[in-house]
Amino acid sequence: MDTLSQLRAGQLHGIQRLDLACGLTSFPREIFDLADSLQVLNLSGNALSSLPDDLHRLHRLQVIFCSNNRFTELPAALGQCAQLQMVGFKSNQIRHVPAAALPPRLRWLILTDNQIDTLPAELGQCHQLQKLMLAGNRLQQLPAELAQCQQLELLRISANPLAALPGWLLGLPRLAWLAYADQPLASASANAVPWHALELQQQLGEGASGVIYQAAWQDEPVAVKLFKGAVTSDGWPQSELAACLAAGAHPHLVRTLGPLAGHPDGTAGLVMPLVPPHFTTLAGPPSLASCTRDVYPAGTGFSVDKVLRIALGVASAAAHLHARGLLHGDLYAHNLQCDEDGHCLLGDMGAASFLPALPADVQLSLGLQQLEARAFGCLLEELLAHCPTDLPALAALRDDCLQPQPAARPLFADIQQRLAGLAA
Ligand SMILES: Nc1ncnc2c1ncn2[C@@H]1O[C@H](COP(=O)(O)OP(=O)(O)O)[C@@H](O)[C@H]1O
Ligand SMILES: [Mg+2]
Repeated sequence: MDTLSQLRAGQLHGIQRLDLACGLTSFPREIFDLADSLQVLNLSGNALSSLPDDLHRLHRLQVIFCSNNRFTELPAALGQCAQLQMVGFKSNQIRHVPAAALPPRLRWLILTDNQIDTLPAELGQCHQLQKLMLAGNRLQQLPAELAQCQQLELLRISANPLAALPGWLLGLPRLAWLAYADQPLASASANAVPWHALELQQQLGEGASGVIYQAAWQDEPVAVKLFKGAVTSDGWPQSELAACLAAGAHPHLVRTLGPLAGHPDGTAGLVMPLVPPHFTTLAGPPSLASCTRDVYPAGTGFSVDKVLRIALGVASAAAHLHARGLLHGDLYAHNLQCDEDGHCLLGDMGAASFLPALPADVQLSLGLQQLEARAFGCLLEELLAHCPTDLPALAALRDDCLQPQPAARPLFADIQQRLAGLAA
């Protein structure tokens, strides 16, 4: 029996999570029979354009996903849901976000790939907001009231026609992961790898923006990233490609061979050398509960040497990117592949943005680099939390990188130097 039939037959009593994707054009009222248990409601992939006004009767609801539906407005009913923390409406046709739609405990708002040109000033009253995903809209500016969201840690505003990066952004004490790349640069066709020359093999991994396969190209093992859509939560695939090419080669960066050309469905992609299989991803991406912080496998433990080696590798990669005029934007353990000894490679330039290069923008550029220093502080905090030995010098570096005053944080050249001194 399919899930909708089970719901209608009253067989789902007591469940905490409901996933329904079956061409719904209206909200099945039977969902209210689950009100005493339901915490996560996923209605993505239907044809819905509204939610019932009494949605708040789902009084335990914490998470709602309605991606890939037909909403043109963020439903005001959401704002009445007292426990609701996470709201996901990616890939609808939303033009209007009423202030009334913002629930009081909002932590995580996903409005990627819609048609929003204005956000309500009341977003600034969402004091628990940690993660805000706005890539792929029509925003020319952000409400200045967002400066009051002091818990905001991750922001995606790429693929929007923003006039400028607002200065208050750099004053946010916890912001650590930012993507703002706007128009995709004309994609360089140099070094393009033709689809027909690739022999596609097994899937290697998957993130929010792409699926990665192993392949053979001219008898060499390579990895191919196939993008999931024209605009992903991090922005345009073409921006990622431009950033990869600008990044150049570095011993602690995943290299790019070139863009994929000639995919039969027009799918965008990029081709990389294969990272050897003895490298594994350092951690899993954030969960619904952890929101902005990575999830490490149970039993994870790092030696002092390994912590130092990983930290130094990442810091040198980030210093290299900043020197080349790039902000990574997604500096996370889940974007690091490491071997047993702590040799690591930073990948996934999907959220990367070009630092402002004009002499007049020096302060802005430094501020953005100090924003990324906080992401490094979070990573160091996680590494140290999994290391049994006390390391006062590393703990001090972590604390410097996590300073709530962004201007007080070190730049990566300095971070790298301090780590190199410790490693010696
Ligand atoms: N060059 C590569 N070689 C081997 N595996 C890779 C390579 N690039 C990515 N992967 C695998 O795919 C996963 C997701 O890649 P990533 O670029 O982070 O995608 P997304 O942008 O979707 O997050 C990685 O965690 C890793 O397991
Ligand atoms: Mg990734």
